[in-house]
Amino acid sequence: MCGILCYLGKRQALPILLEGLRKLEYRGYDSSGLALAENGEIFCQKAVGKIQALENSLAGVQWKGSTGIAHTRWATHGKPSEANAHPHTDCREKIFVIHNGIIENFQSLKKTLLERGHQFRSETDSEVLAHLIEEHYQGDLAEAVRDALGLVEGTYGIGVLSAENPQEIVVARKGSPLILGIGEGEIFAASDVSALVSHTKEVIYLQDDDVAVIHPGGYELSNLNSDSILRQTQKVDWDVAAAEKQGFSHFMLKEIYEQPEAVENAMRGRLIEEEGISKLGGLNGVQDEFLEMERLIIISMGTSYYAALLGRYIIETCTDIAVEVDLASEFRYRKLNMKEGTTVLAISQSGETADTLAAVQEAKRKGALVLGLVNVVGSSIARETDAGVYNHAGPEIGVASTKAFISQLTILYLMTLALARHQRMSLSEGQAFIAGLKLIPDKIRRILESASKIEAIAGRYHGYKNFFYLGRKFNYPIALEGALKLKEISYIHAEGYAAGEMKHGPIALIDENFPSVCLAPRDSAYEKMVSNIQEVKARNGPVLAIGTEGDTELQKICDDFIEVPATDEILQPLLMVVPLQLLAYYIARENGCEIDQPRNLAKSVTVE
Ligand code: M6R
Repeated sequence: MCGILCYLGKRQALPILLEGLRKLEYRGYDSSGLALAENGEIFCQKAVGKIQALENSLAGVQWKGSTGIAHTRWATHGKPSEANAHPHTDCREKIFVIHNGIIENFQSLKKTLLERGHQFRSETDSEVLAHLIEEHYQGDLAEAVRDALGLVEGTYGIGVLSAENPQEIVVARKGSPLILGIGEGEIFAASDVSALVSHTKEVIYLQDDDVAVIHPGGYELSNLNSDSILRQTQKVDWDVAAAEKQGFSHFMLKEIYEQPEAVENAMRGRLIEEEGISKLGGLNGVQDEFLEMERLIIISMGTSYYAALLGRYIIETCTDIAVEVDLASEFRYRKLNMKEGTTVLAISQSGETADTLAAVQEAKRKGALVLGLVNVVGSSIARETDAGVYNHAGPEIGVASTKAFISQLTILYLMTLALARHQRMSLSEGQAFIAGLKLIPDKIRRILESASKIEAIAGRYHGYKNFFYLGRKFNYPIALEGALKLKEISYIHAEGYAAGEMKHGPIALIDENFPSVCLAPRDSAYEKMVSNIQEVKARNGPVLAIGTEGDTELQKICDDFIEVPATDEILQPLLMVVPLQLLAYYIARENGCEIDQPRNLAKSVTVE
C-alpha cells in the first residue's frame, strides 16, 4: 500500500528520498510524488507509474534543500493520476501533506471545507487534510496538524511540510505504521523500516495518536493533546543486504531460496530435544493460559489464512483443542462468545493488515487472550496482542508471500508440539516430531535443486488460462496457497479445491485445456487422491502431480510429475508448497509478468 518517507538533515534530500521510494516500491503503488523545502519555498513534483517516471520528470532539477517528504500512492479514492498523487496541498500551496490510510469522514469534511471556499484539486480523501490544516494554521504547524486530526475519523500516517515552517516536518500516526529513524544529525520518518535502514538502525515505532515534530535539533514527541511523551529507541536487527536481491532476478525467487534458513530461524533456540518439547519465549507471560486453552480461533488473511487452515488440521490432530479459523475480515460479523479458555491467534506477516488488526481489537474487547504470530518486529499487531511469537524470517519484499508462509507454518508446528506434549503426546513422539522437523530444511534444499525441472514444466503449462489445485487433508490448505500464488503473480485464473469437492460441481469445467495440479504424497489420503486424479484424466484434463520421490505408479497416471522427499505426513505441507511457489514463479516469468510487484496488489494491506 502507500509508502511514506520524510527526511530532515544536512544532506541533500532529493537523492535520499528517491532511493527510499525505490525501497518502498515492493509495497505496491501506482504513482508517486515528493515535496522539497529550500529557502522558504517548496518544490513539488508527482508522476503516475513507476518511481522511474518521477525520476525522469525531475531531470535537470537543481533543488538542493535538505528537508523533504515523499510518497508512493496505491489508489483507493480516485484513479492513479498526477492530481491524485501525493503530496496534496492547501489552497495557497503552502502546506504539503502525504498520507497513508483512509479518512472515512472525508466527504462531510470536504463538504464543509467547500462551503468555506476551499478549492480541491483531487478526488482523494487525503486532500482534506491539507485544507483542514490550512483552516487551523496560525503560525504553529504542529498545533494546526493536531487540530485537524482531531476532526478526522479513520486511519492515517502523515508527513506535513509547510513553506512557512521550512525547518520542520510534522508527522503523526493512527492505525497506519510510521517509524522515526534517528541518524547522525538527521531524522527520517517512514512507513516501513526498509526505506531508512540503509541510513540508520536506530528507530522509534510511533504509536497511535503520536505526533512528532522533526527539526534540525532533533525531534519532539507528543500526543494529540500536546502532552509530551517518551518512546524508546530500538535497534533494527536486519541488515541492508536482507533487503537486496543479491544476484537473484526477483525478490520472490530469492525468498523462495531463503526458505531452508527461514525454517531454521523459526526453530532456532525453540526446541528442547531431550524433553521433546518446544519453548516459545514470547509466550512466557501467558504460558498457563496458552497450554490450558480449550478453544483456539485463528484469524488472518490471504496466505496467512492458509497457514491458519493448516494450523487447524495439525493442532486438532495432535491435541484435544477445538480450533476454528476465520478470515479476519469476517470475524467481526460473528457473534462469538469468548468464554474462558478461548484464545485468539492472529497470523500476519506484516503485522499491519487492517482487517487482522481490527479483528485483534474486537477479540480483545471481548476478553479473549489474543496472541500474535508476526514477522515484522514492532508492527501494530505485534504491539496490540497480549503476547506472541516472531517468525524471524527477515524482511519479505516480494508481494507474494513465500518464506514468511513457511516460517508461519514452522511456528504453528512448534505451537502444536508445545500443546500436544502438554496433553497426550509422549516423550518419544515429541522427539520424533522434532527429528522430523529438523530434517525439513535439507529436504527443501533438495527440492530447490530440482528447480530447473519445474522451470521446464512451467514452460509447458504457462499458456493455459485456468488451473485447479487439488489436495486433501494437510495438503488442502497448500492447494489453496498454490492457487493463490499462481493467480497473484501470473494473473492466471486458478482455484484451489479440496479434491473431494471436485465431483460436486467444479469437475464440469475439466477438459483438455483445463489442467489440475494435484498434491498426492504417499500419505493417508493418497488412495483417494489417486482416484480424484483418475477422474480428471477420464475427462481429458492434463494433470501435473506433486508426489513422493520414487512414486512411479503416480508418475504413470499423470502427464507431469514433480517429486518431493518423503517426511511424516503431518510435516509434508512444508515440502509440498515449495514446488508450487517455483511453478507460479516460472509461469509468471515465462509470461513476462511483474513478479515482485503484481498489478493491483500491495505488500501490506492497510485498508479494510
Ligand atoms: O501481512 P499479512 O500476512 O497479514 O498479509 C495477509 C495477506 O494480505 C497476504 O498474505 C497476501 O495474501 C499475500 N499477497 C499473499 O502472497
